Amino acid sequence: MGHNNNYCSMQQKQQQQLQLTNGRRLRNVATAKRSIPTMTDYLKLHTQLAQVGQEHLVKFWPELTDDERAILVRDITELDLNEIKQYFDRATISMNENGIKLDDRLQPIADDQILSIARTAEDKLNVYREEGLQQISNGHVAVLLMAGGQGTRLGFDHPKGMYDVGLQSGKTLFRIQAERIRKLEQLAEQQTGKHGHIVWYIMTSEHTKQPTLAYFEANNYFGLREENVLLFEQGSLPCFDYDGRIILDEKHRVARSPDGNGGIYRAMKNAGILEDMRRRDVRYLHAHSVDNILIKVADPVFIGYCVQEQADCAAKVVEKSAPNEAVGVVAMVDGKHQVVEYSEISAKTSEMRNSNGRLTFSAGNICNHFFTADFLHKIGSTFERELKLHVAKKKIPFVDNAGKRLTPDKPNGIKIEKFVFDVFEFAEKFVAMEVLRDEEFSALKNADAAGKDCPSTARADLHRLHRKYIENAGGLVHGDVCEISPSVSYAGENLEQLVKGKSFSSPVHLRDSLNGHL
Ligand code: UTP
Repeated sequence: MGHNNNYCSMQQKQQQQLQLTNGRRLRNVATAKRSIPTMTDYLKLHTQLAQVGQEHLVKFWPELTDDERAILVRDITELDLNEIKQYFDRATISMNENGIKLDDRLQPIADDQILSIARTAEDKLNVYREEGLQQISNGHVAVLLMAGGQGTRLGFDHPKGMYDVGLQSGKTLFRIQAERIRKLEQLAEQQTGKHGHIVWYIMTSEHTKQPTLAYFEANNYFGLREENVLLFEQGSLPCFDYDGRIILDEKHRVARSPDGNGGIYRAMKNAGILEDMRRRDVRYLHAHSVDNILIKVADPVFIGYCVQEQADCAAKVVEKSAPNEAVGVVAMVDGKHQVVEYSEISAKTSEMRNSNGRLTFSAGNICNHFFTADFLHKIGSTFERELKLHVAKKKIPFVDNAGKRLTPDKPNGIKIEKFVFDVFEFAEKFVAMEVLRDEEFSALKNADAAGKDCPSTARADLHRLHRKYIENAGGLVHGDVCEISPSVSYAGENLEQLVKGKSFSSPVHLRDSLNGHL
């Protein structure tokens, strides 16, 4: 299932550009011109579809042009028909289980499987940091960025990574992340004397791939080596009506939607990313969402901790702010780690506290994970097909019996998504790291009108953190606006010589020792 799961490297750039600049529909037409489906093709397709109860997909065949028929054939061929029925059945089960409380089967993460940054001595964290930087220098570390979402709530017409929350530098999320990667490569080299590259795998979707690629090209990959930045595309899943019939979006188009951030496992396999990791000897991956402005990309402390613990899968978590915060928590269900949604725990359980006053189920999931390459190979080859399906009832435009396209005013079908965290249960050794929210997590989800998880909160959170970095290094900041370029400091390190004993007035912008505010 899914389509066009290719990755772009320098070698493939020209070919990709051709495909991408033409856009989806033009490409379809081009394909159509190459092979016009015959009556035999139609009959064969009809038989295959009838075997799985989906023959309505070709009911408008007589009315279609040759090009439209070719597009429809391609849409249908991209569906794995044997898998489709299973998908719907599993989705229905999942829908029926929605809202079932898991309280009786729930256990918090064991104490020896979670490390709290706030309660760990600096010496120990330094050991992890050194390990992580060593792995980076050895070229064993990659970043897996999930950037295929449609960003509906933010309401921005481009991929979310291109959003500028209004920093003085005007940097977008993609640029900030790229600069953090560059800085980390330098820090690793300073420690070890060896330059290693961090490979950046970026998952896009049908909607985000072309503009993301164009943006990276226009910005010269932000100074990173182009061959170390690989874009690939996640797949899609068809939309179903409540009876399990795939919805027609147009007479010649199957309705489908991106398969969720958990689509990453299948897409990595189909796009050759798993193979690329093997070729480059990538062993450890930091996977995260595109929309966390405070993300410590390829955080060496996290990587070092996971490597030393010999974990194959891990999650960074933040302490839940209150029992009723609507965030999933990492916990154990029947002895296996998983993310338990807020709706799956009763109020009583979510309010439970340990003797030290902390919430028992406090490990808030923030879409920030570690995987070994071996683990991802295992998921790709075996467990991907068992991933839980999450179902949402949606208003899905459809073609009625008369062939007219309608947009319903209430939900008429389901969209299916997979979630990146649903692989935890397959881990042989799972660990978690509790990090400070004010240092590591501020998500950009909504437009400013929502008042939370929006551009102004992202900007303010970054300003606050960067001010804290300066103060921790012995400087003083008057006022609120404070930005430190990743080229100066990745996470507050090496600032003393620049700021100690000095006082700064807002707006502060530390760019580099020659050119900055100093
Ligand atoms: P969200 O679930 O918050 O979705 O994604 P979103 O697209 O950013 O925003 P809304 O819900 O449409 O408003 C969490 C992370 O998972 C990625 C997103 O890009 C983001 O980094 N994601 C989500 C994908 O890569 N693919 C998907 O199909 C969905």
